[in-house]
Amino acid sequence: MTRPVYFDCDTGVDDSMALAYLLASPEIDLVGIGGVHGNVSAAQGVTNTLRLLALADRGDVPVAVGRNDPLVGEFAGGAPHVHGVNGIGNIEIPATSAMPIGEDAADLLLRLSHEYDGNLEVVAVGPLTNLAVALHRDPSLAERVVRVTAMGGAALVPGNITPLAEANIAHDPEAAQAVMAASWPVTLVPLDTTLANVLDEDDRERLCTAEAPIVRAVGAALDYYFDFYVDEYGRRCSALHDPLAAAIAVGGMLPRVAPAVPVEVDVTDGPGRGQTVCDLRGQRLGPVDHPGANVRLVLETEGPLAPHMVERLLSLTAPVATVAIA
Ligand code: BDR
Ligand code: CA
Repeated sequence: MTRPVYFDCDTGVDDSMALAYLLASPEIDLVGIGGVHGNVSAAQGVTNTLRLLALADRGDVPVAVGRNDPLVGEFAGGAPHVHGVNGIGNIEIPATSAMPIGEDAADLLLRLSHEYDGNLEVVAVGPLTNLAVALHRDPSLAERVVRVTAMGGAALVPGNITPLAEANIAHDPEAAQAVMAASWPVTLVPLDTTLANVLDEDDRERLCTAEAPIVRAVGAALDYYFDFYVDEYGRRCSALHDPLAAAIAVGGMLPRVAPAVPVEVDVTDGPGRGQTVCDLRGQRLGPVDHPGANVRLVLETEGPLAPHMVERLLSLTAPVATVAIA
C-alpha cells in the first residue's frame, strides 16, 4: 500500500530535487501539489512544477496555484540570486499544455484530506501560507492528516535570510505559527540538519547524465544554485534543504536526534521576526520529548542524504515515448 502525499512547494532548485525524489519513491503516491509564493511567485512556481511533471510524464498529478502573498504583507520578489530569475537556475524546460486545476491549493489540500481521511501526509517545503489558509477554512483538517513534514526554521544555528530566521518561516511567520499550533503532528526539518547535508559536483555530474529527463534538468538547474553556496561552504556545492524534508517524510532518511519540543514562531516586528523559538532546555544528556509537544525537531539524521538521494534519483527511468497509432 502506497501512502498518499500532498506536496506544497515554491518550486525553486531544491524544491525540484525534492519533487524528483518524491516521484522516485515507491513508498508514496503523490496525489496533489500546491504552489505557494517564496523562491518565485506562486504562478511561476506552478509553471516550473507542471513542466517538471511533464518531463517525468506525470501529468496525472493535479497541481493547484496557491497564495501569492503571505498572510501579512505582500510577496517580496523571491530569491533570483539563489534560484535564478525563473526559479530553476535559469534553465529552459520545454513548455507544456498542462494547466493547473481550478481549485486553489488550500481547497485541493482540504479535498484530499477528505478523500484520504486519516491517511494523507503533507510535505511542505515553502512558506506555510497554503496550509494556514486551509486550516483557517476548516480547522478540522488537522484531524484528518497523519503528519506534516516541513522544511523550515533554525533551532541552534543562525538563520539564512535574517540573523535569526530561515527563509520559509520568515516569508510567512504568521502562517508558520498557525501550522505549529495546530493539533497535527509536525516534523520540522530545520537549517541545523539541511545545511549539514551537502551535494557535491561529482554528485551533480551523475544527475546530469541520468536516464530520466527530470533528473537531468535538476542536475542542470543545480549549476546556478551551486554558485550561491560558494560563500557558505567555500566551494561549489549545495545544501539539501527540501530533499531532506522529502526523504525524512518518505522514510528514506531516518532522524537520529529528533525530540518533540514546543516551537513558537516570532511574529513580532522586531529583529527576531520569523525565528523558530525551540525549547531545547533539558536536552544535554540526550533527546527528551516534552509531554504534549506536537512538533518533532530533526536535529540529526542517521546518515548523509546525498548518496541515498542520488541513487534514488538515478532509479527514475525515462518515460516510455507515446507512440501515435494511426
Ligand atoms: C528554503 O528556502 C528556499 O530558498 C528553499 O527552497 C528552501 O525551501 C531554505 O531556507
Ligand atoms: Ca522551497
